[in-house]
Amino acid sequence: MATPHINAEIGEIAPAVIMPGDPRRAQRIAELLMDDARQVTDVRGILGFTGTVDGKPLTVMASGMGMPSAVIYATELYQFYDVQRIIRVGTAGGIPEDVKVGDVVVATGAHTQSNMNQFRLPGLFFSAVSSHNLVAAALAAAGEAESQVHAGMILCNDHFYLQGPPGQLDLLAKYRVLAVEMESAGIYGAAAEFGREALTVLTVSDHLLDYNQNMSAEDRETRFQGALRLAVAAALS
Ligand code: HPA
Repeated sequence: MATPHINAEIGEIAPAVIMPGDPRRAQRIAELLMDDARQVTDVRGILGFTGTVDGKPLTVMASGMGMPSAVIYATELYQFYDVQRIIRVGTAGGIPEDVKVGDVVVATGAHTQSNMNQFRLPGLFFSAVSSHNLVAAALAAAGEAESQVHAGMILCNDHFYLQGPPGQLDLLAKYRVLAVEMESAGIYGAAAEFGREALTVLTVSDHLLDYNQNMSAEDRETRFQGALRLAVAAALS
């Protein structure tokens, strides 16, 4: 049986899912991590691969960009495929000065201006938080990380290009909002709905205060693999 957006059979998706945004990155991660990966879903080009890492089953499946896309996949994975934990890996824009391009951010929670979680607890502002156990497992693996690793809140934005109100960036830095991306608040909300776990591990790919901070392609890949190592440690913990 398939779902509207995933054509894997039940049982073909592992209890732990690593979730990058980009389908081709999903394929590269699967090839990097597993010798026995096989493609299990391809609806709308959102590729998913299942195999084993250190003898443990793992699926790598893309989310697409933005909360609406990510929440469709997270919901179907938790609800129909009995997925227990989703670990998003992705890139983000750094916000405070000390969060540098190339650093890794473990997102303990996500502020958002999106309405996607406002339907969950009518009358309340839902707090989108990650699984404590997964945060602990990711940070335990951060010991010999080649990048600086930060743990804390992020901003999950609906807009990539539209700026927030004047002064928002300074306030975000003041409140120690470490980075901005576009999927985590949605995935954390879906995890809460189904009583499952979620975590996001980000590589800072650019900086909102300084667009001249750039990583070489080689650096980008190395740093990304550092973040991926933390994500895999959490997924298999
Ligand atoms: N916003 C801003 N910068 C970024 C993002 C984002 O969502 N993702 C990566 N860099």
